[in-house]
Amino acid sequence: MAHPSQPLSAGQSNLKNHRLGLPGKALKPATPEGGMPQGIETGREPLGITQNGWQDGKVGHGTMPAFSDPSDREPSVQWPLPPDGAWLPDGGKPVDGQPGHPPLRLGVMASGSGSNFEALVQACRGGNLHAEVALLVVNNAGCGAQQRAERLGIPWQVHDHRTQPSRERLDLALVTAFRAAAVDLVVMAGWMRVVTPTLISAFAERLVNIHPSLLPSFRGLDAVGQALAAGVTLTGCTAHLVCEEVDAGRILVQAAVPVLSNDDHASLSARIRRQEHRILPLAVALTAKRLADQG
Ligand code: GRF
Repeated sequence: MAHPSQPLSAGQSNLKNHRLGLPGKALKPATPEGGMPQGIETGREPLGITQNGWQDGKVGHGTMPAFSDPSDREPSVQWPLPPDGAWLPDGGKPVDGQPGHPPLRLGVMASGSGSNFEALVQACRGGNLHAEVALLVVNNAGCGAQQRAERLGIPWQVHDHRTQPSRERLDLALVTAFRAAAVDLVVMAGWMRVVTPTLISAFAERLVNIHPSLLPSFRGLDAVGQALAAGVTLTGCTAHLVCEEVDAGRILVQAAVPVLSNDDHASLSARIRRQEHRILPLAVALTAKRLADQG
């Protein structure tokens, strides 16, 4: 995938592309023709200002390259930093016209607070994702995800790994539960367990995970802590298909997130989480579309 050399100005978002599963429309340039994009302030240089084609001393001179949003053409490229809440498609208006098939039935797996699970539910209920969450499974009884399911009226089950003799037996119980719920596609939305071929093969090409880094950087546990320790100035999140190697499956959607000079673990996690809530429904939509295209 080609990487863009131009930044979006802060506050601009590719809102059209959040009408999930539908092609986006071209955006107007962020600045008047020939103007200087503002870049995304990180407390350092605006991002992109020293990138490709801008390193020849011509910044501020000569013709600026045409400004375009790469996500118009490639929805898996997501730019960061819309203002909170501003990512809702068309200001949250309902989607007019749904694909002519029944809503996708989603199974969701979560271990913790469940904010990504709720983002999926809201994307479905807001008409931004032609799907419904048919079943949530959690491995920690009473966790935030379970509480959200109770509040949202989503069916949920506890499958406590501590009561199972092996990872495979846990995954077999999950497969049985998802099949009983007639689930089409499964999302690991903060599932803090390594999964086995028992689950992966049962939902081949239909098992999506969300990870808080720009993979392949910072795989495994505490990706946010790894990013802070490495001193990177840009990190992000990745929605990807699950394969047997941890955090190594086919990348579906990524969003970039700047690391600010005064960030701690909590502030960076929160900034990444906001982008996860945008890209996870998009990744589900793209996966569903790919499966439908394959017939
Ligand atoms: C997310 O950061 C996700 O990337 C990671 O676990 C976290 C889950 O957060 N795998 P939440 O439970 O959805 O709030």
